[in-house]
Amino acid sequence: MSKNISFIDGLEGILKYREIDINQLVELPYDAVSYLLIMGELPGDQELADYSARLRGEREINREAIDVIRMCNFNIDSMEALRTIVSFISQFDPDINDNSPEGNMRKAIRLIAKIPTIVAAYHRIANGKEPVPPDPSLSHGANFLYMIRGSKPSDLEAEVMEKDFILSAEHELNASTFSSRVTASTLSDLYSAVVSGLCTLKGPLHGGARAEVMAMIDEISSPEDAEKYVLEKLAKKEKIMGFGHRVYKTYDPRGVVFKQLSRQLAEAKGNMYWYEIAEATERTVIRELVEKKGKPIYPNVDFYSGVIYKYLDIPPKLATSIFAIGRVSGWIAHCFDQYEKKKIIRPRAFMLDEC
Ligand code: ACO
Repeated sequence: MSKNISFIDGLEGILKYREIDINQLVELPYDAVSYLLIMGELPGDQELADYSARLRGEREINREAIDVIRMCNFNIDSMEALRTIVSFISQFDPDINDNSPEGNMRKAIRLIAKIPTIVAAYHRIANGKEPVPPDPSLSHGANFLYMIRGSKPSDLEAEVMEKDFILSAEHELNASTFSSRVTASTLSDLYSAVVSGLCTLKGPLHGGARAEVMAMIDEISSPEDAEKYVLEKLAKKEKIMGFGHRVYKTYDPRGVVFKQLSRQLAEAKGNMYWYEIAEATERTVIRELVEKKGKPIYPNVDFYSGVIYKYLDIPPKLATSIFAIGRVSGWIAHCFDQYEKKKIIRPRAFMLDEC
């Protein structure tokens, strides 16, 4: 079962969730993809309506959580606050100790629904503004941008946000999903498993790379400077953030979609600047590493998504937390699978040599 949650062909650049190619899935609402991951099949119209209604009904976070957000340190990345608040709100979940499939499903809905609200409330409070309550008439993506800005996004922005959540939702046994599964394998509760995932996603070799890409685009500052920037980094044997992948030895299929979306946003906003910096960076990395050195180092999921966040006016500090908004459905799908196995994950130390 676990192997079917997603499928990666790292040589051909193919990614499927539950046997459906991501290029098809990006045409669906995030709620439908979340349902697919967790329930194992696409929802019918009524099932999707019910699932969306449950998610939309659970978006609000309690006053206690808002009070704790007000006490957070806003000078650092939002992931510190997110993992703290997810852990904090678990104490108020009436199903916290109900490990039945029904209890776990209720927790899953609350986690998927509330994480965007936590991230948006953090952003508003960090910027001296009051949190914007969720709008149940809006999709997952549109509502998130609305809670951040206090105004409704354009149709294109809402669509891009939905697609970002979908493309970030699942990726087999990546580091954060593995962490979540290990926690679930002890039959610990779903909040604990999601907090484990958050802690692991944060690292710059994993989800943290997206914020680093945004910083890199700012540092490069013009398309003409991209080549010099890349050459200097490579000469110092430093990695270029947003490139390379343990599994993909070709272009990351999510990166292909993100590249198209970032171009679309750039054109719609009449500002090609960041897109052109990114393209010039990509050209140099491919010339230097793929063509000259034969290393399969292509843009990964974090590269053009970082460019998209610049066009959506999202600060780097939120980038990894937004990745988590999408990924939580994948973590939960894996945890449910692990709960069914009722078997602890306990590798031997020598296996670390393989990593
Ligand atoms: N820039 C320059 N060189 C690179 C890069 C890069 N981004 N990635 C790999 N390489 C080179 C390495 O220097 C190494 O070269 P060498 O054999 O001459 O020493 C070779 O390619 C293999 O690199 P590893 O780090 O051993 O590859 P690994 O599979 O362990 O790492 C990883 C994959 C962590 C993603 C790596 O490519 C990297 O650090 N990329 C930058 C960070 C990043 O974008 N992370 C996000 C990944 S996607 C995700 O987790 C959501």
